[in-house]
Order: sequence, then C-alpha cells, then structure tokens
Amino acid sequence: EFHLSPREAGLSSAGLFGKFDLRQVQRGFQVYQEVCSACHSLKYVSFRDLKEIGYNDGQIKTIATEWKIEQPSVNPETGEATTRKNLPSDRFPSPFANDVAARAANNNALPPDLSLMTKARHDGQDYVYSLLTGYRPQPAALLKHFPDAKTPAGLHYNPYFPNLNLAMPPPLTTEGQVQYQDGTKASVDQMSKDVSAFLTWTAEPKLEARHQAGFASVIFLVIFVFLAWGAYKNVWRDQA
Ligand code: HEM
Repeated sequence: EFHLSPREAGLSSAGLFGKFDLRQVQRGFQVYQEVCSACHSLKYVSFRDLKEIGYNDGQIKTIATEWKIEQPSVNPETGEATTRKNLPSDRFPSPFANDVAARAANNNALPPDLSLMTKARHDGQDYVYSLLTGYRPQPAALLKHFPDAKTPAGLHYNPYFPNLNLAMPPPLTTEGQVQYQDGTKASVDQMSKDVSAFLTWTAEPKLEARHQAGFASVIFLVIFVFLAWGAYKNVWRDQA
C-alpha cells in the first residue's frame, strides 16, 4: 500500500473547542495570494470577507485593486472580452478564461476551486498540509513491484494524492518563498500549515460559532438528562 493517510497539521481550529489563529490565517492568505492564486480561484469568497480575519476596509480595497488576476469583463463599446480591476465585492478570480484554457496550461488537469477544499476531502486541513509537503521521488519498492506505475511525464508523485500522481507541480518548494509580514520564518512546513489554516477558514468561516453552539448544546443536554431523571423519579415515586 503506497497511499498514505494525511499527517496532522495540528491547527488551532481542530478539535471540539478549536478557534482560528487569525495571525496564522492571515499568513495563509499571504501564501494563497502569492502562490496558489496563480492557478486556483476561491469562487465562494469575496475580498470583503477578509474583514472577518482582521483586515480593515482600506487594506481590503488595496488588496482588491492590486490583485494580479483581474476579473473577466466585457468591453461595453465593442463587446470584446476583457478584464477589469477587482472590487471588494468581487470573488477571488480564476486566472484562466475557461476550463479549456485551464487544462491547456496544466497538463490537461483542472486546478479545482479551493473555497471548499478542506471540506471536500477527508480530513481536509490535514490533507492539504500533507499534500503540499508530500512530494517526493517514487519509492524503489513501488517501481520494483509495479514498473508500469512510473510517474508519467508532466505529473508529480505524491503519496497523499489518492492516485499517487497529480498534475500540480510542488507549489511550495523553498524557504522564504513568501516574506511573512509578521516576521514568522517561512519554512515549507510553516507555509503549508498556514495555507491549510486559511483554507479551513474559507471552507467554514463560522467554525467557531459551531463549536460554541455544540458545547452549549451538550451542557444543556447534560442538565436536561438530570432534570428528566428527577422528574421520572418524582412522578413514579409511589408506584413500586
Ligand atoms: C490541485 C492546493 C498551487 C495547479 C490542487 C488540490 C489542492 C491544491 C488541495 C486538489 C488535490 C485533490 O484533488 O485532492 C494548492 C495550494 C496551492 C496550489 C494550497 C498553493 C500553495 C497551485 C499552482 C498551480 C496548481 C501554483 C499551477 C501551477 C493545480 C492543478 C491541480 C491542483 C493542475 C489538479 C491536479 C490533478 O487533478 O491532477 N491544488 N495548489 N496549484 N492544483 Fe494546486
């Protein structure tokens, strides 16, 4: 068996009481901005949503205006397809005009939208972290037993990807690839964890509210069980 289950990313949002580490989520946004957005959109997240992770209106406006990938648009004079600068109300755009163009640029594979990726895959936050740090040469044992399983040209071996070879080249390869604004050392491991934290937020921005509501419900149920038990004892007191 050469496929591996994800390694734990150890994010603060994990677990029953997990909360986002907003500084980490912001670092993850920086990784998305500088690396992943070259191929992946976030079609369910708009620039102004960044307010929830601690950016103010002015910063959001700047981020949107300076975003390298522009929004698809139409020239009103000629009807020709063109692009325009992003507004805070826009979603994070795909760099590709359509799926055909996207496949043409990626060895015939489509870079999926990443908004819900950590929900779409089992153990998503750990999966994203493991996938990003999981590229390696093919194990000799694999090639010995299955010579035909040699990674085809243009694909990349990664034991965390279900069919072991994927079209995405390793996106995070060098320390310092992103210059963190908060001074954190940008190791490949750190950047991978951070972008996983960011994508956990895009997939479930209301995670903290869910954890709180879940906890309150459990407390309520515990109290309710004792009340119900007491009522039962009281009602049937004279019976047997
Ligand atoms: C697929 C994340 C950067 C191209 C994926 C998948 C994830 C992901 C989670 C889905 C794997 C699956 O289906 O289970 C990221 C992150 C990035 C990043 C977090 C930034 C750190 C890039 C870049 C490119 C790219 C820069 C283009 C050069 C692709 C392609 C696929 C893919 C083509 C489809 C692979 C296949 O189905 O074989 N990416 N990606 N990604 N990504 Fe990325």
